[in-house]
Amino acid sequence: MLVPIQVIAIILAFSCHEHVAIASFSLVVPVNKHAGAAGNALYSAHAYFYKPQYPNARISTTTYFGNDQYVQQSLLIDIDAPFIWHSSFPHQESCEACPNPVTCGEFQCTDLRTAFSYQSPSCPLPTNHSMYDEYNDCEVCPVNVISPVTGECSQVIPTFDQFMFTNSYSGSGILSSDLYVTYPITGSTAPSTFDPFPSNVLGVMALSSSPYALPAYLRNPINRIIALCLPSNISTTGVLFLGNGPYYIDQSYVDAMGLLSYTMLVKHPKSFGYFIGVNAIVIKSKSILVPNNATTKISTLDPYTKLRTDIYNDVVRRFSKVTKRIPPAKSVTPFGLCFNTSVNGTTVGIKVPDIDLILQEGKKWTISTANSIKQVTEDVACLAVVDGGPTSEHAIVIGTHQFEDNFLMFNLENSTLGFSSSLLRNQTSCSNYDFSVVYN
Ligand SMILES: *[C@@H]1O[C@H](CO)[C@@H](O)[C@H](O)[C@H]1NC(C)=O
Ligand SMILES: *[C@@H]1O[C@H](CO)[C@@H](O)[C@H](O)[C@H]1NC(C)=O
Ligand SMILES: *[C@@H]1O[C@H](CO)[C@@H](O)[C@H](O)[C@H]1NC(C)=O
Ligand SMILES: *[C@@H]1O[C@H](CO)[C@@H](O)[C@H](O)[C@H]1NC(C)=O
Ligand SMILES: *[C@@H]1O[C@H](CO)[C@@H](O)[C@H](O)[C@H]1NC(C)=O
Ligand SMILES: *[C@@H]1O[C@H](CO)[C@@H](O)[C@H](O)[C@H]1NC(C)=O
Ligand SMILES: *[C@@H]1O[C@H](CO)[C@@H](O)[C@H](O)[C@H]1NC(C)=O
Repeated sequence: MLVPIQVIAIILAFSCHEHVAIASFSLVVPVNKHAGAAGNALYSAHAYFYKPQYPNARISTTTYFGNDQYVQQSLLIDIDAPFIWHSSFPHQESCEACPNPVTCGEFQCTDLRTAFSYQSPSCPLPTNHSMYDEYNDCEVCPVNVISPVTGECSQVIPTFDQFMFTNSYSGSGILSSDLYVTYPITGSTAPSTFDPFPSNVLGVMALSSSPYALPAYLRNPINRIIALCLPSNISTTGVLFLGNGPYYIDQSYVDAMGLLSYTMLVKHPKSFGYFIGVNAIVIKSKSILVPNNATTKISTLDPYTKLRTDIYNDVVRRFSKVTKRIPPAKSVTPFGLCFNTSVNGTTVGIKVPDIDLILQEGKKWTISTANSIKQVTEDVACLAVVDGGPTSEHAIVIGTHQFEDNFLMFNLENSTLGFSSSLLRNQTSCSNYDFSVVYN
């Protein structure tokens, strides 16, 4: 079965009950946390790629749904990436998914190379000549990508792809056999491109607002909404919801939607990532004002929040003042403020005042101890923010340590961000979703 070119379609295959009314529907995908180098964390989720396009791809699992065979591949979650790209070369030099490439004359080729491309001055200019021998000039459309792990440039071959999410959903009246198939254009590349990625992660799942990222390929009844709940623990799974909920995050049927406050997403002229307006950072009723023209970005690649030096200095000064009673420790790179958590030889938990981000509508995103403090060694814990330098492009980049066990809903239908602050305050966490249970 060849994927019809330029057809974007959804197949909702119900084994029976096709008349079932769909009140609300969302797909649920497990999220894994990986420990990177230097204690950094990265997160992945998997999709099922249509197997006949990948007869020999390096994959972890092959699954049949009906007569169709799919292969499971884990992709790095990147809410900033302009399009999805992944390994589909069984060997370094030949592309399994490329019978169906975007050719150099198609508008998508121009789109992906210009408006929706990865931008870096270190990348070579695009050419119509592939680095893979099997193609003649212009048969394919080589496009530059930048590794979110190494920052290095490499080349992908965009193809008309097919993948599916399955076996996991949340909603009313939905049967367990539903498949959700979507036909994005994805970049294909060699497995070696992903060598520095966490093991078995062979691609990038773009969740940005770009028209070539996953949310753009979601169609009725799945709304263009992604809700991300990152786990704080490498040995447990968090959850990614696609669609408008309900977001039952544990077996008590708590709908995370009920825990959300909303802020407008702010458009950025040069990025498909997600930005919000932060007016001030408040620590124990004292405000640190954030300049009007400062931008605040949310990142799934930065492990710790990066603050421009002027803001960083104010935050660290204030935080050290309100934590005077906790014995200090010599600071541990990359952090600037650390505490000794060893009392008479035993590690004790510390409790620090909340850090509140005051957003443009006056809403408050509260960062409590679990998200502000990182236990670095047995007897040292640090304020988990880093100095982004005096001229950093964004005044604030909110890193993942600050929103693990928080529920974030990026709503591209109405350009809002829903945020819960720490779910631990509500006696639940991102790891409480039970993927073996049907929530409906
Ligand atoms: C690639 O080929 C297309 C179609 O012939 C042409 O419009 C485009 O300018 C070429 N791009 C480059 C970088 O050579
Ligand atoms: C992570 O989860 C495992 C298994 O549930 C648990 O033993 C461990 O203490 C957890 N680690 C942290 C840092 O919470
Ligand atoms: C932001 O405003 C400050 C103070 O008005 C100014 O010095 C700075 O150049 C502005 N930055 C940007 C990026 O516009
Ligand atoms: C923490 O304090 C104890 C004394 O209470 C001391 O023995 C230990 O060396 C300190 N650890 C660090 C990392 O400063
Ligand atoms: C630590 O040990 C000393 C001496 O044994 C004792 O006086 C003190 O109360 C202990 N401190 C704590 C916090 O347990
Ligand atoms: C955006 O949608 C969410 C959920 O669908 C809703 O709760 C929120 O009020 C909406 N926000 C705006 C500004 O329309
Ligand atoms: C969740 O916890 C926060 C902080 O303790 C509390 O203000 C809020 O009411 C709780 N929400 C629900 C729905 O329990």
